[in-house]
Amino acid sequence: MTRLALITGGTRGIGAAIARRFKLDGLNVAVTYYGNDTAAIAFTQDTGIPIYKWDATDFDACQIGVQKLQTDLGQPVDVLVNNAGITRDATLPKMTVEQWHAVIDNDLGACFNMCHAIISGMRDRGWGRIVNIASINGQKGQFGQTNYSAAKAGVIGFTKALALESARQGITVNAVAPGYTATDMVAAMDPTVLEGIVAQIPVGRLAKPEEIAHAVAFLVGERSAFITGSTLSINGGQYLV
Ligand code: CAA
Repeated sequence: MTRLALITGGTRGIGAAIARRFKLDGLNVAVTYYGNDTAAIAFTQDTGIPIYKWDATDFDACQIGVQKLQTDLGQPVDVLVNNAGITRDATLPKMTVEQWHAVIDNDLGACFNMCHAIISGMRDRGWGRIVNIASINGQKGQFGQTNYSAAKAGVIGFTKALALESARQGITVNAVAPGYTATDMVAAMDPTVLEGIVAQIPVGRLAKPEEIAHAVAFLVGERSAFITGSTLSINGGQYLV
């Protein structure tokens, strides 16, 4: 049977590129979103991919949402991509406690909530693929992003621990660490700051969302069964680990 893949934050940016790529690869695909209704409606009209709206920082909403989606679509989620994420950039003295918690809850807490909602089913069936979208800035740190760097570094540790717990059950858990990518998130940056960052990228440009999707598609493939607990850096050479 064709497997079902679920991507959080899948109506824009990197998530939308992953959803489109999975569909081209022949998977059944569903996506979640929370913020932008207009973008989500345009996405589903364009792709035919079903959209589900819930707050991934809400543990109960994830449990209920996943159950409903699986009932609607008549099959369990075999592939999960935790992609939903936000930034609230500020240097530490200027960062509010709300900005801190918003990023930790969205970028790290949501991974826990979503994995909790799907992992038991994957364990019972003895097969699963989970890819968590981390960031170059969780690997190297970034000025103005103590919240985001901490959350994304946390995603990498979370990925390794869950990979160990899941290895015997046929479930792989990996992280992808994109560099600066041409999405709304990066477009929201101060253009002068962004120009300075692009100057530090050896390839000389931002990543395309499709280039990140390519790596995610590789990791969820049937033949990637021996890759687990790894972090795949896709950053144009900006940070080499
Ligand atoms: N290293 C050292 N010093 C730096 C610096 C750096 N990287 N960047 C700025 N500074 C200095 C400035 O020169 C300035 O010094 P002076 O006062 O002596 O001139 C001081 O630090 C204050 O800097 P800012 O003016 O930048 O401070 P601000 O409060 O106005 O702005 C900020 C803070 C909004 C966080 C801004 O620095 C910024 O936009 N930084 C980039 C954050 C970033 O990369 N975000 C990525 C978003 S996309 C994403 O996250 C996706 C992904 O995964 C890659």
